[in-house]
Amino acid sequence: MKGIILAGGNGTRLRPLSLVGSKQLAPVYDKPMIYYPLSLLMLAGISDILVIARPTELPLFRRLLGDGGRLGISIGYAAQDEPRGIADAFRIGTDHIAGEDSALILGDNLFHGANLPSLLRRSARRLNGCVLFGHQVADPQRFGVAEVDEAGRLVAIEEKPECPRSSLAIPGLYFFDGEVVDIAKGLAPSARGELEITDVLRAYLKAGRADLMWLGRGVTWLDTGTAESLLEAGLFVRDVQRRQGIRIGCVEEVAMHMGFIDADACYRLGEEMANSSYGRYLMDCARISGRLPASARQPGGWP
Ligand code: DAU
Repeated sequence: MKGIILAGGNGTRLRPLSLVGSKQLAPVYDKPMIYYPLSLLMLAGISDILVIARPTELPLFRRLLGDGGRLGISIGYAAQDEPRGIADAFRIGTDHIAGEDSALILGDNLFHGANLPSLLRRSARRLNGCVLFGHQVADPQRFGVAEVDEAGRLVAIEEKPECPRSSLAIPGLYFFDGEVVDIAKGLAPSARGELEITDVLRAYLKAGRADLMWLGRGVTWLDTGTAESLLEAGLFVRDVQRRQGIRIGCVEEVAMHMGFIDADACYRLGEEMANSSYGRYLMDCARISGRLPASARQPGGWP
């Protein structure tokens, strides 16, 4: 399965913070925002990833993540010159997807939860069309919203409805089969001038091939698109990390956990940053992991 991180857009809700520089490179507590969606794709077992960003900012992403080799994965880059909408990712990413299944994650979405990695891997395995997720929120009008019937079956999808018919928001993480490229290419811009991801999801729903997975209470989902939500996300990460002594969105640790790199490589990456607590954490993870048999390696408390 291929992965795409959409990290473009003008970040207008974050101005002036986003006037020069990419929102998705802004710090969420102790690491760049893009580490969170990147680590999530990696936890889903995805190791071939395309980062889409504004042309002026692509070199910065490249400087941060390189070709992915240090994490034992492959990272490519493509430019989106105008924010034409989320579904534009499939037009830009056509060659990368190459007819395979793909997962798209928005660069400003942060997920955390104990059962998440297994849920993601299950979703990827049972893909028959598309998988979208539903998460209960207090302010659904800010998001794509899923309407379900009494049996919990998905019956309708709306983008930022004024009067939402449910409180089930659709987070910015989706799995699709190879057909998504043709569906995206057939879309017309919406009334607000964007190629809407909800229109792609609706096409799958109409064909009876959209699967809704509920993210229960055990999962936290945050989007970081406003100053307020960015601060909240940073405080959330700090609190969890401080209380539990683990790191969220730590791409090097995830790379080791997933077997993309070995404990020695993880240790060396930590050593390069040994002056920071992040670097020392990596060295500790590698030390602990190196001493344990493979079956017992559970860094970060993952299931
Ligand atoms: O966060 C989840 C929500 O994301 C979903 O519930 C909605 O259905 C979906 O439309 C989207 O809503 P947002 O209002 O958050 O979308 P926004 O325009 O802020 O874009 C989300 C991210 O994608 C943001 O990091 C910028 C990036 N983006 C967006 C567009 C439209 C791009 O890179 N290129 C684009 O053309």
